Amino acid sequence: MARIALENVDKVYANGFVAARDLSLEAADGELLVLVGPSGSGKSTVLRLMAGLEQVTSGTIRIGDRDVTDLPPQKRDIAMVFQNYALYPHMTVRENLGFGLSIRKQPAAMIDQRVNVVAGSLGLDALLDRKPAQLSGGQRQRVALGRAIVREPLAFLFDEPLSNLDAQLRVETRVELSRLHRKLGATMVYVTHDQSEALTLGDRIAVLRDGVLQQVASPMELYARPANRFVAGFIGSPAMNFVEGTLQAEEIGGDGNFAFRGSGLAISVRCGSIRSSRVVLGVRPQHLEVVDGGDETLRAEVTLVEPMGNEQIVYVSLPGGERLVAVASPEPQIKPDTTVAIRVRRDAVHVFDAEIGTRLDCGGA
Ligand SMILES: Nc1ncnc2c1ncn2[C@@H]1O[C@H](COP(=O)(O)OP(=O)(O)O)[C@@H](O)[C@H]1O
Ligand SMILES: [Mg+2]
Repeated sequence: MARIALENVDKVYANGFVAARDLSLEAADGELLVLVGPSGSGKSTVLRLMAGLEQVTSGTIRIGDRDVTDLPPQKRDIAMVFQNYALYPHMTVRENLGFGLSIRKQPAAMIDQRVNVVAGSLGLDALLDRKPAQLSGGQRQRVALGRAIVREPLAFLFDEPLSNLDAQLRVETRVELSRLHRKLGATMVYVTHDQSEALTLGDRIAVLRDGVLQQVASPMELYARPANRFVAGFIGSPAMNFVEGTLQAEEIGGDGNFAFRGSGLAISVRCGSIRSSRVVLGVRPQHLEVVDGGDETLRAEVTLVEPMGNEQIVYVSLPGGERLVAVASPEPQIKPDTTVAIRVRRDAVHVFDAEIGTRLDCGGA
């Protein structure tokens, strides 16, 4: 297995569109790196650059210690699994699995042996003589995975391989993929637009926006310390609430205590050295409490309640018109068109620069 690294890669398509901008990113040997971002952020472009299906405009790509920037796909020795996997309909599962080896003129006995091992590890043994049309979507996806594994490539690239599966199958196949990653110890780069999929699957997650890398970190770190407002809003569900306002040093004490004011919300937060006073306060819905009065509370109108069984998702609007989302415990039941009090968990707030969106050194206990 081998690491895959992009070094200062730019990709400008023929029409002048910049799909990757000064991108430096590494999947370490044996790592499962997840690349996440909204549609059009350049995720497929990055994978295609790694695979050699697209040429970089500038920069370097390495697999292991080799500079592969100018090598064609077949010399890079990595396997790619797409969302729209194409199995050969006229071939059996066994033939589909072995196809990559037979076109490389490998001996039949060796192909048989590898196909059997991979089929076993993917639970495909009983299906080896079926044709793709006789398989469920999940089984077909596992055959597509198996076909990549049989080749024993240096690394695997996955481009939204599960997005055509229904929710339950997606979870099952994801678990399977995780298990497979641990078992093979393979280097994998996995692309998804789904932040929850990214959080559950990745050792580390790279967040991409408009071809620019925003942050690379562990799932916990991304969630707890998003580097900027974009990452903060993209990772986590429901999405983080943002309230624009100002930050002012409090006179008393003056040792890092600041007052945030905006949209009728006034709370004190602790910050390191702060330059800007125009900020955006970020609060996750899980860190907004719906309470009956108390300190630092804010009256709000409930506009909608979504009962989820284990919790209620409560949509409120503040006196200034600002809308917030809170996640509340299932009891007591909250009713729409009532007034409630909202309390912000001060130790869990995030503060971002209002202009450029970068995280400021505030909040957190
Ligand atoms: N061959 C191409 N020529 C011009 N623009 C392209 C080409 N391929 C992709 N793009 C553009 O590059 C951007 C990134 O595309 P892509 O990498 O497919 O994003 P993602 O996989 O994150 O949805 C999109 O705006 C897309 O329209
Ligand atoms: Mg894509």
